[in-house]
Amino acid sequence: MSDRKETILVTGGAGYIGSHAVLALKKAGYSVLILDNLSYGHPELVKEVLQIELIIGDTTNRELLDQIFATYNIAAVMHFAAYIAVGESVQEPAKYYRNNVVGTLTLLEAMVAAKVKYFVFSSTCAIYGVPLEIPMTEEHPHNPLSPYAASKNMVEQILLDFDYAYGLKSVAFRYFNASGADPEGRLGEDHNPETHLIPLALLTALKKRENLFIFGTDYPTPDGTAIRDYIHVCDIAIAHILGLEYLLKGGKTDVFNLGNAHGFSVREVIETAQKVTGKEIITQEKERRLGDASILVGSSKKAQTILGWHPLYADLSEIIKHAWQWHQKRHGTN
Ligand SMILES: NC(=O)c1ccc[n+]([C@@H]2O[C@H](COP(=O)([O-])OP(=O)(O)OC[C@H]3O[C@@H](n4cnc5c(N)ncnc54)[C@H](O)[C@@H]3O)[C@@H](O)[C@H]2O)c1
Repeated sequence: MSDRKETILVTGGAGYIGSHAVLALKKAGYSVLILDNLSYGHPELVKEVLQIELIIGDTTNRELLDQIFATYNIAAVMHFAAYIAVGESVQEPAKYYRNNVVGTLTLLEAMVAAKVKYFVFSSTCAIYGVPLEIPMTEEHPHNPLSPYAASKNMVEQILLDFDYAYGLKSVAFRYFNASGADPEGRLGEDHNPETHLIPLALLTALKKRENLFIFGTDYPTPDGTAIRDYIHVCDIAIAHILGLEYLLKGGKTDVFNLGNAHGFSVREVIETAQKVTGKEIITQEKERRLGDASILVGSSKKAQTILGWHPLYADLSEIIKHAWQWHQKRHGTN
């Protein structure tokens, strides 16, 4: 590995998006350290694919964080660690506020104490709530519809206050729907429980699930199903490196959408998945889920202009093709 670049601490690096970011950081020549409590992460992928040090621990553990910052010369933190299930957050808000807000606050306090100045944060388009305009820009008003989204919104506020008071510089990326997998098939999405449409469709195609639920068929959209903007996980990973380098070069605290400015309905995603896999995906229609907006599509013009970010994999078929490759390898073909 190159010795020309800084050491980056990646929290949640054993998870889906964090692991792809670690791969991209390694490729770009950074030294990387993962902190993950393995509540949802995959240590075998860290060992076999990422081949870097994994510290098993929690972002709420201040003593451990102080120890990490005292031991390693960390230049910046990329913070992916969070609980992510919107529906569960409605049922169990305390779990989400504790992990996503208290965990992040603890981490930020430890960073300030250790004089680590740069922070890249995984936020979400869910903070916007019901869209007032499409595509949504970063100026869109915030109206989080779930404790999950509210927890991310609170952290964004904390980041502004920490910059003002302590000079901590941050970039918050508001991802639309992260999807796809490493094009070489080394990493991919494997949440348990899985709540995301593309992996659920592919697991159904693989007959690992009986059928795929479509939540809500009466949305005010052309086919009645919800519309989302799917963004390839490798494009998110590259944005993180650009965000990090922007901060290291003295960029100011800011927020950026990461989306493709193009939405697909649930039914369109299922049709594309059937074409890519050549398999039938059996569906079952259900009521809308609490906290789900009808349409979320984002403009990433700001990330393109300021960070020079240009998504490489905006094509839905290609996103699903990469995810399919990973799912077949991970779960076996039927
Ligand atoms: N997946 C998406 O579509 C999406 C969209 C918008 C934002 N995000 C955000 O991106 C980030 C990563 O999402 P993901 O899909 O990779 O999730 P993931 O569950 O695959 O990864 C999260 C990782 O964080 C770890 N973790 C959770 N809480 C922790 C804690 N307190 N201390 C240490 N480790 C902890 C888990 O073990 C897991 O490995 C999250 O912050 C999520 O809110 C994801």
